[in-house]
Amino acid sequence: MSAQPAAARTPDTPATTPVSTDTARSPAPRLPDGLAKTPPMGFNNWNSTHCRAEFDEEMVKGIADLFLAKGLKDAGYRYVNLDDCWALPERDANGKLVADPRRFPHGIKAVADYVHSKGLKFGIYTSAGTKTCNEAGFPGSLGHEVSDARQFADWGVDYLKYDNCNNQGVDARYRYRAMRDALKATGRPIVYSICEWGENRPWEWASDVGHLWRTTGDISDSWSSMLGILKQNLPLAPYAGPGRWNDPDMLEVGNGGMTDTEYRSHFALWSMMSAPLLIGSDLRKATPETFEILANKDLIALDQDAAGKQATVLASEDGRWTLVKELANGDRAVALFNETGQPQRITTSARQVGLPQADGYRLRDLWQHRDQHTTGTISATVPAHGTTVYRVSADRRWADHPPAVEAGTDGIPLVETGTPTALRSTVGNLGGTPARDVRVALRAPDGWQVTATSPATARALPGGATLRTDWEITAPAGARPGAYDLTLTAAHRAPDGQRITTTLPGSAHVVVPPPAGTAYAAELPWLTAANGWGPVERNTSVGESEAGDGGQLTIGGAAFAKGLGAHAPSEVSFYTGGRCTAFHARVGIDDESGDKGSAGFEVWADGERLTESGTMTGKDTARTVDADVSGARTVRLVVTDGGDGVDHDHADWGDARFSC
Ligand code: GLA
Repeated sequence: MSAQPAAARTPDTPATTPVSTDTARSPAPRLPDGLAKTPPMGFNNWNSTHCRAEFDEEMVKGIADLFLAKGLKDAGYRYVNLDDCWALPERDANGKLVADPRRFPHGIKAVADYVHSKGLKFGIYTSAGTKTCNEAGFPGSLGHEVSDARQFADWGVDYLKYDNCNNQGVDARYRYRAMRDALKATGRPIVYSICEWGENRPWEWASDVGHLWRTTGDISDSWSSMLGILKQNLPLAPYAGPGRWNDPDMLEVGNGGMTDTEYRSHFALWSMMSAPLLIGSDLRKATPETFEILANKDLIALDQDAAGKQATVLASEDGRWTLVKELANGDRAVALFNETGQPQRITTSARQVGLPQADGYRLRDLWQHRDQHTTGTISATVPAHGTTVYRVSADRRWADHPPAVEAGTDGIPLVETGTPTALRSTVGNLGGTPARDVRVALRAPDGWQVTATSPATARALPGGATLRTDWEITAPAGARPGAYDLTLTAAHRAPDGQRITTTLPGSAHVVVPPPAGTAYAAELPWLTAANGWGPVERNTSVGESEAGDGGQLTIGGAAFAKGLGAHAPSEVSFYTGGRCTAFHARVGIDDESGDKGSAGFEVWADGERLTESGTMTGKDTARTVDADVSGARTVRLVVTDGGDGVDHDHADWGDARFSC
C-alpha cells in the first residue's frame, strides 16, 4: 500500500473560504490536459441500483463484459464507473479509503484491472464534503484531497465523479479546485466530473476546473423528471464545448419508468445536447430495445461530434420543439420533439436550420438509418412524447436519394362502439422527384372495421404533392374504453425501384358518452390523466407520490366528498361527446400543502379555454369554476403551476361535475 499518513491525518485544505476572483471570460478557459474532447460515454450504477446489494464486483465486471459482447465499446462507450456506497464508512488507520468487502471482496484495484483488461476505463465516486450523500455516511474527500486523489490514481482510476453533500458550507469553487489540483498532482489523466447540481452556476466558472458539471438536481426514472431537466439544461448551450460539458445527469434508458418512445426521446435529446452518455440501467437485464437505443451510432455521432456544440432551441410552441445542432462538417442535426400527449406535426426548413440555399438536401432519419432527400421542408408527424431526428446535409447529389415522404393523420379518433368515426390521413412528398406507386394503409386491431372512403393509392406523387385519404373507423360492439393501436403506413417506390415504407404509430380511443344527468368527474372514465407528482386521485387529494395515499379533499377548511386530487402541472381530459352542457367545480390548493403552493385552474373544451380561476395560493379559500361546455366533444381540466414552479402545488377540483 502506498502510505501517505501525514497528508491523510492533517486535512489538506483549510476550512476557510477564500474569496474568488473569477469573472465570466470568453472564450472559456479549459483544462490543458486534452481530456474529454467529446462528452464521456460509459456506465454508472446509481440509477439502477442506488446502494442496494446488487451493486458489487460481479455487476461491474458483468457490465464491462457486456460493453464488448453487445457492441457498446465499439459504439464508443468507455467508462465503467462506480457511484456512492462502494466504500466502508470508516477510513483505515492511515486515513485511506477502504472498499466494502461484501461488495468488492478483491478490492477496487482488482475491479479496475479487470475493466482495463477489456480495453475500457474505470471511474469512481466521492464527495467534496466530509461524507458522501448516502445516510450511511461514507467518507468524503474534503480535507483529504491529496491523499484520496493519490489513492485513486494508484488504483488506476480514470474518472472521478465528485459530489456535493456534507460540504460544511465551504465555497464550491474552492472545494472543486482543491480536488482538481490534487488530481493533477498525481500525474494520471483523470476525467473530472463536478457534481454540485448546478447550485453555484458551475457553467460560469468550472471550465478550467472540471471536464463536465452537473447542471441540475438528480434525474429520476420518469417522464416529468427527464423533461424538467431537459428544460433547465437547454439554455446552457453557450457554455458547452470540447473539454467542458453541461451534464444533465445520467441516462435512465431501460430502467422501466418510461415507455420506449420516451426513452428514445431521452437518448436523442441528450445526444443533441452533447451530454455525457452514462448508461444508468443494469445491462444484464436489459431488453433488445434498450440495447438498440443505447447503441444508435447515428445519434452517438451527434453527441460525439468534434465541434462539440450543444443543440439550441430554434422553436418551441405548445409542446412542439425544434432543436438544431451544428456539426463539424457543416451538417445540421435537427430534432423534432413532441412534448405533448398527442401526435403533432412539427415543421422547419433547411434554410431555417442554417444550411445554405440549394435545390435539395440529403435528409437522414437517425432512427430509421435511412438517407432520403428534401427540397427544403424538414417535417414529421411525431408520436406523443416522441422525437424524430434528422441529419441534414448540403449535398449536390441529393437527387440520388429517394424523396422523403411524410405521413400524418388529423388526430386521435374518439370512437363510440358501433358508430363509424372519420379520420383523414395525409402522405406528402417532401422531395423533388416523384414517389411512385404510393399505397396508404391504416391498420386497426382485429375485429375493427377500417374503410377508405377516398383513394388510398396514387400511381405517382410528384414532388411537393400530397395524397389525402378519408377513412371510416368502426370499433366492435364489445370493445372496452381505452386506447388501441392504429398504425398508418405509406409505401412508395423510389426512382431506382426501391420500395420504401414510412410508418406512423398512432392510436384510436374507444369512448363512452357520459350518462344523462349529473356525472361526477371522478366517476367518469378519463381520456388522459397527467400529474406533476403522483397520480391524479379520485375523491381524495394527491397526498404523497403513491396511488391512493391522499386524504379528504379540503380547501381552506372546506371539505369535499367528491372531486379530483391533482398536482401541478396537471391535465385530465374527458369525452363529453357533445352531450353535456355545464361543468362545475370548487377549486384551490389542498390544505395538505399548508400555506404553501400556488396554481391556476383552467377548463378547456375542444382546444379552447373556457374559463380560468386566476392564480390561487395555499392561503386562499375555494373558488367556483363554472363553464358552459355545450357542444364540446372533449373537456380538459388543466392545472398550471401559478408561475413559480410546481413545489407544494397540491391542487383540488372539489365537487367537480358535469351536467349532461
Ligand atoms: C447525489 C448525486 C447522485 C448520486 C448520489 C449518491 O444525489 O447527485 O448522482 O451520486 O448523490 O449518493
